[in-house]
Amino acid sequence: MARTGRGEYGRTVLTRSSPSPLFADWPTGETDVWMSHGDAITEAPPGFTATASSPDAPVAALHDPDRRIHGVQFHPEVVHTARGQEVLERFLFDVCGALPTWTHTNIIEASVAAVRAQVGSARVLCALSGGVDSAVAAALVHRAIGDQLTCVFVDTGLMRAGEGEQVEETFRRQFQVDLIHVKASDRFFSVLAGVTDPEEKRKAIGETFIRIFEDVAQDVEGARFLVQGTLYPDVIESGTRDAANIKSHHNVGGLPEDMAFDLVEPLRALFKDEVRAVGEELGLPEDIVWRQPFPGPGLGVRIIGEVTPERAEILRAADAIVLEEVRKAGLYRELWQSFAVLPAVRTVGVMGDGRTYAYPIIIRAVNSDDAMTADWARLPYDLLERLSSRIINEVDGVNRVALDITSKPPGTIEWE
Ligand code: XMP
Repeated sequence: MARTGRGEYGRTVLTRSSPSPLFADWPTGETDVWMSHGDAITEAPPGFTATASSPDAPVAALHDPDRRIHGVQFHPEVVHTARGQEVLERFLFDVCGALPTWTHTNIIEASVAAVRAQVGSARVLCALSGGVDSAVAAALVHRAIGDQLTCVFVDTGLMRAGEGEQVEETFRRQFQVDLIHVKASDRFFSVLAGVTDPEEKRKAIGETFIRIFEDVAQDVEGARFLVQGTLYPDVIESGTRDAANIKSHHNVGGLPEDMAFDLVEPLRALFKDEVRAVGEELGLPEDIVWRQPFPGPGLGVRIIGEVTPERAEILRAADAIVLEEVRKAGLYRELWQSFAVLPAVRTVGVMGDGRTYAYPIIIRAVNSDDAMTADWARLPYDLLERLSSRIINEVDGVNRVALDITSKPPGTIEWE
């Protein structure tokens, strides 16, 4: 039997009302949980016993020990539930009898074996973006099949500062991967000339990337497989029929639909934190493993208005200062993303005796768990001061720095 109420979520107190293996280790009979104040079970069905309650929910947890069925009506997976992780562990280990064998070493061993079994002696291609997912996927596949792997890095001219060099250093020199580095910025800037609409930009960048990748792929003899850094959340998301398509998140490096490749997806069962742990274990540098997310279309969607080489240069220089100072302040890992945005408008300023007429730079920094929602980050004033003075002094073409204090919703993390 159930009743429905306000449908809001919030923190409440859960009180154990009858012994349950899920709550076996609680020192007191109570804990904080995150719960809907809306739908509530008012009475346990036949065969079940209520094992916990909250002020709003008489049956906040229940079980039928004979049939070994357990249910909870709160959210054990969210951080606001104090002993949530423990409840999940008790369920998995004690009730289901699962073994905690999902370790990073085992993940690597299992993936290596699966990749070898899947590809045999065929050639495999991997598009590196500079981001953590494609880097870990490539390193894992390289561990499995060595020089059967060819990696392709397309420099779109819209990457962060130093990204191309780092890919070269890590993959060509450290891992000795067969790497094709395509310097294609001219081609990207020419297709972006005159384009200001965000979706058109994404499309132009995505299509150009695919065309370049196809050309390269044709030259790699016998390439039958393509590595994709698909993660478990992508698998879940693409499986939800009604997931709202708010922006076409065209991931540059994504698979063109008509390409005749079989996919190798070694990260398909992993969450981001697991991908990072695997990356560390494989010996990837910290800079890559802990890199903040970066959109596939790169700086292209952080230049608001037409994308030109000059604007990309200005934004890349400002962005490098943001990242350097955020790192120095010890906030890089804590922030979900921190970056610079360049709206293509000019504002008036003064410098020395003269008047300037130059671009503003917007600083965007957010905290988030999954990018679905985000909070604007309260950066310390002294950091903001350093950012403002360094960007204006060191980056030609910028005379003003502003801070974006919009959370998501209603804003999005990126400006386009
Ligand atoms: P928004 O701006 O929608 O971004 O709040 C959510 C997350 O997705 C990233 N993002 C993209 N990633 N291709 C990508 O691969 C894209 O076109 C794209 N647009 C946004 C964004 O950086 C944030 O982490």
